[in-house]
Amino acid sequence: HKVEKYLEPFRLSLEKLKEVSVRLKKDLIRGLGKHSHHRAAVKMLPTFVRATPDGTEKGDYLALDLGGTNFRVLYVRVVEEQQKVVKMDSKICSIPQEMMLGTGEQLFDHIAQCLGEFLESQDLKGQTLPLGFTFSFPCEQKEIDKSILIRWTKGFSCSGVEGQDVVKLLKEAIHRRGDYDIGSVAMVNDTVGTMMSCGYRDQSCEIGMIIGTGTNACYMEEIKNVKRVEGEDGRMCINTEWGGFGDDGSLKDILTEFDEVVDQTSINPGVHTFEKMISGMYLGEIVRLLLVKMAEDKLLFKGETSEALLTPGQFETKYISEIEEPDSGLENAQKILTALGLNWDPVDACVVRLVCDTISSRSARLCAAALATISNRIRVNRGLDHLKTTVGVDGTVYRKHPNFSEELQAAVRLLAPKCDITFLVSEDGSGKGAAMVTAVAQRIELCQINQYLFFLLTTVTKLL
Ligand code: GLC
Repeated sequence: HKVEKYLEPFRLSLEKLKEVSVRLKKDLIRGLGKHSHHRAAVKMLPTFVRATPDGTEKGDYLALDLGGTNFRVLYVRVVEEQQKVVKMDSKICSIPQEMMLGTGEQLFDHIAQCLGEFLESQDLKGQTLPLGFTFSFPCEQKEIDKSILIRWTKGFSCSGVEGQDVVKLLKEAIHRRGDYDIGSVAMVNDTVGTMMSCGYRDQSCEIGMIIGTGTNACYMEEIKNVKRVEGEDGRMCINTEWGGFGDDGSLKDILTEFDEVVDQTSINPGVHTFEKMISGMYLGEIVRLLLVKMAEDKLLFKGETSEALLTPGQFETKYISEIEEPDSGLENAQKILTALGLNWDPVDACVVRLVCDTISSRSARLCAAALATISNRIRVNRGLDHLKTTVGVDGTVYRKHPNFSEELQAAVRLLAPKCDITFLVSEDGSGKGAAMVTAVAQRIELCQINQYLFFLLTTVTKLL
């Protein structure tokens, strides 16, 4: 009926999703190209992670995690024998909103302080441990320990960081304090951490995906296709930054007026179009805008709104999960609507639930289209008719929503019928995964040193 008219633009048919997938497929190639890269909406960033875990990694590591719900510091032990990553301890530090929009120096001083307090409490100040830094923003990586922030996304916008090397900013902040030091640093995107933490358990895990505050994925690409990195053999993990898909206007036909408002009122208009249709930072806001419009058009709440409903950010994404809960959903809807000061009747509660369902389904199906594109690319890359692979997944939307994962998986099966994908929810990819990346980097470094020594030895022997 009338409600459908509002929801229709959000319902994407399988045909439409296939079109979206074809567009993304082209964008992946554009992002990988040497000359097309700089104009590409999907950045396809090399990560300098060349191998997934082989189970021989071990050691003690520090990990930092910035860019999700909280800032965290962790002390992690990678144990070889049990094929296990053990979290020894961790600490959460909140980052106040003002700091997310303040100066970079303040932000990094805060990070260094939080790390310092943690080391103190663990009695680790005297050691210089290697550190994995999960920094979940698009970075141009020059090496595993040199990583230049391209631009902030999600809720951050600190001055003086874009265009700078994040490792350098971190080290400078630590040296300003002077009371402790850290060892080698490995920079990690959360998607990569997620892939690597699953890779320890399942060695066919070659994709990492996040659907949380933001959305993104990484996967193992053939180096010969990564035109901006030298080398012909082997693979490298690529951070796709698929959140930027559509920033060049390629998704215009599926954007609704509500998506335009979400973009325009965000702190980074024009940036991360795809992410704004999918991730937790924005889903609640899309629902809120729809509810306001429907109330104004007298389809809901007897034509009345409330101050809370009219305030941006007041309809939280977690409400969507609560309202779609199979058993308690309607009851939750009523509680939430009451808390928002709305004058609802039982039909309103059902309509609100339908709105939530429509918005979360669109998100799941768009993610599915993107994931299908990536799996198909891996399959074709390897000349396979059929690909069996695993994707490590994390993020609040994927974890907490009652049927998001099922909906996503069902759509992927339709969009990538030749790929058999296992979904593995990562256990703390941003924390343990970062340690894993650091451990793998060290294993490879050791391996390279060994190869070099072997080479020296054989040459010397030959000469003798
Ligand atoms: C944003 C960031 C990306 C991150 C994702 C999930 O899209 O740009 O780097 O992986 O959020 O946290």
